[in-house]
Amino acid sequence: MVDAVSGIAGKVIVVTGAASGLGLADARLLTEQGAQVVMTDIDVERGQMLAEEIGAMFLAHDVSDEARWGQVMGEVEAKYGGLDGLVNNAGVAHIANIETTSLQVWRNTMAIHLDGTFFGCQAAIKLMKATGGGSIVNMSSTAALIGIPSYLAYSAAKGGIRSMTKAIAIHCRRETLNIRCNSVHPGSINTPMVHHALKELVDVDLGAMEDQEKARVSMGIGEPDDVAHMVAYLLSDVSKHVTGAEMVVDNGDTVV
Ligand SMILES: NC(=O)c1ccc[n+]([C@@H]2O[C@H](COP(=O)([O-])OP(=O)(O)OC[C@H]3O[C@@H](n4cnc5c(N)ncnc54)[C@H](O)[C@@H]3O)[C@@H](O)[C@H]2O)c1
Repeated sequence: MVDAVSGIAGKVIVVTGAASGLGLADARLLTEQGAQVVMTDIDVERGQMLAEEIGAMFLAHDVSDEARWGQVMGEVEAKYGGLDGLVNNAGVAHIANIETTSLQVWRNTMAIHLDGTFFGCQAAIKLMKATGGGSIVNMSSTAALIGIPSYLAYSAAKGGIRSMTKAIAIHCRRETLNIRCNSVHPGSINTPMVHHALKELVDVDLGAMEDQEKARVSMGIGEPDDVAHMVAYLLSDVSKHVTGAEMVVDNGDTVV
């Protein structure tokens, strides 16, 4: 299943939330690099259309549904005989602080980010164990590192993903499963999620807001490919000595 020469070619990789933004960029890049990519999303129409365009497989998939994870992995195994990589990327971001976050928003955020990542890791490890190993990439955020007041539930969920990733990585190492697990922490990246957030947070047009952001961060707001290259690195054999790591892709935002 794995091309011994290239880091990515021939690998079977599932990317969740792949019908938009970062997941779509991952799916595109990985396919270009020769991986067999399975894109999953709740947005079936868009996902199917984009998968066809890219040359990937698409499966309708709500990551908060444990039973559906079993079916998705079953379909991947039936078609490809195993799994080399999983990107737990699907996500939502509700704007609400500690005083305004409803229980419904809290539960929805935890169901998609924390339950989804937990179900995904469990299902992937089961399949990867059977075929000799693999690499899991969990999409966290700089919100996990600094806590963003206007994204209370999101910050909590991303923090959970960060530490869950480390616990999984060490478990897999102790059990010599040959499965690596790392988290990726993007700063602001130019995707529909961020466009939506900026529009809700401030009553200015997006172009102006991006210019402000650009002025603050000298190299500009990040592009989805900036994150996709990190994801591809973590999925490839080149990163074989990297596990339990938190890879920050934020143009230094959390340093200054
Ligand atoms: N864009 C950023 O600046 C940024 C920064 C840090 C982290 N992230 C994280 O990156 C990931 C992707 O974000 P994005 O910016 O590309 O957002 P996006 O809104 O462009 O894409 C998210 C995708 O997830 C899908 N999705 C939502 N709920 C789902 C569910 N229950 N099951 C399956 N799919 C579901 C959506 O349909 C959509 O296609 C998220 O986990 C997000 O938290 C994004």
